[in-house]
Amino acid sequence: MAVDLLLGLQWGDEGKGKIVDVLTKNYNIIARFQGGPNAGHTLVFNGKKHVLHTIPSGIFHDDAINLVGNGVVIDPVIFKKELDKLAEQDIDYKKSLLISRKAHIILPTHRLLDAASEASKGKAKIGSTLKGIGPTYMDKTGRNGIRVGDLELADWKERYEALTSKHVSMIDYYDAKIEYDLEELETEFCEAIEVLKSLTFIDSEEYVYQAQKESKSILAEGAQGSLLDIDFGTYPFVTSSNTTAAGACTGLGVAPNQIGDVFGIFKAYTTRVGSGPFPTELFDEDGATMAKVGHEFGATTGRPRRCGWLDLVALKYACQVNGVTQLMMMKGDVLSGFKTLKVCTAYNYKGETIKHLPYNIEEENVSPIYTEFNGWSEDLTKMSDASELPAALNEYISFLEKELEIPITIVSVGPDREQTIFKN
Ligand code: GDP
Ligand code: IMO
Ligand code: MG
Repeated sequence: MAVDLLLGLQWGDEGKGKIVDVLTKNYNIIARFQGGPNAGHTLVFNGKKHVLHTIPSGIFHDDAINLVGNGVVIDPVIFKKELDKLAEQDIDYKKSLLISRKAHIILPTHRLLDAASEASKGKAKIGSTLKGIGPTYMDKTGRNGIRVGDLELADWKERYEALTSKHVSMIDYYDAKIEYDLEELETEFCEAIEVLKSLTFIDSEEYVYQAQKESKSILAEGAQGSLLDIDFGTYPFVTSSNTTAAGACTGLGVAPNQIGDVFGIFKAYTTRVGSGPFPTELFDEDGATMAKVGHEFGATTGRPRRCGWLDLVALKYACQVNGVTQLMMMKGDVLSGFKTLKVCTAYNYKGETIKHLPYNIEEENVSPIYTEFNGWSEDLTKMSDASELPAALNEYISFLEKELEIPITIVSVGPDREQTIFKN
């Protein structure tokens, strides 16, 4: 059976966690394929909010298997905290959580290196979540990394020590005045490693292959968003993994011809956290309203998210590189009350009108060209059926579907699991 993918199409935080949770009832296996604890996926049900960082968003469903794939990077310390929270809620994760032996481990010194690298960049900093993501993927591609499967080998501690001492010299080299107590960090790390070792490690590509043969349904859950992809995002202001559809092939071992539906998630407007270009960013009252009504604060770092109008040029690009087959529009409820809405439908690029995402989208090269729409005033948050949606919202949706040539099959009208409208 083909593997379906669910991916963020913007700069992350589109609402992936919520929709994975909603869709889990249709799947046997939910699998993360890239990223790590830089992700913060929020789920809301029964009046309670849950934030997951590394653990797939199907974990609250009894009968789903949740797999952390080879493409993910795991910080045992953060992972342990996530497990502790699940245990408090009587979630029997030992039964349903599987970890790929090929997933790489974030060491305490990876986090320190992230901080040192950012400090050394000054104003040019990426705005990293400082979870050690970049340095860990650098060690992976540099062929120095430590993987989950190494924890089963007799010499893993020696390898840990060798890599850590190399990192310490690198931190010194940055001369970024990072203060740390390695011994304290290592005590916490070693405790967390023991907890990680109590979970089930598997050869995940074989597991995924057999599951497909047995007609098990699999949903691959993306982290971050397409515009943060290491190749296709707004480099260098990106994360260090392939967040796009191809990342699911390398991050799980799924063959390209085994990909089924590609669910693309986007907000009805745009947000970004961290540095980097953002053509439709708003610095006015409208942006402040989006931030306030949408509670736009990072689920991992608590940083305020930058807000702006929907950028259809960027969205179309994301649909293209991912081969999106169905769209899901989130947070339409946040736009209730705007008299006029704007959608960026083209860019003015060095004096020319273009409709594709160019190499440079910095402010000095690109300015957005907007199409305006009537807003709606109705509160969407209590609506549960597509027939209730206001006419102006339907027009907004129809326009996007026509421009993107992909149907919008879910309209989300609030953070709760129940606030989800299925269209068509
Ligand atoms: P993810 O990283 O893609 O899983 O998204 P985050 O959890 O980081 O950010 C999405 C935020 O929006 C969370 O606080 C969600 O609870 C919230 N959210 C999701 N869908 C909706 C929606 O349709 N309306 C509103 N108002 N909030 C939503
Ligand atoms: P989810 O899965 C939003 C951003 C950071 C920074 C850049 C690089 O919740 O959508 P990194 O820590 O990866 O080195 O940071 O990427 N970033 C995210 N922004 N949502 C995320 O994940 C993000 N993960 C990383 O803010 O700009
Ligand atoms: Mg998030």
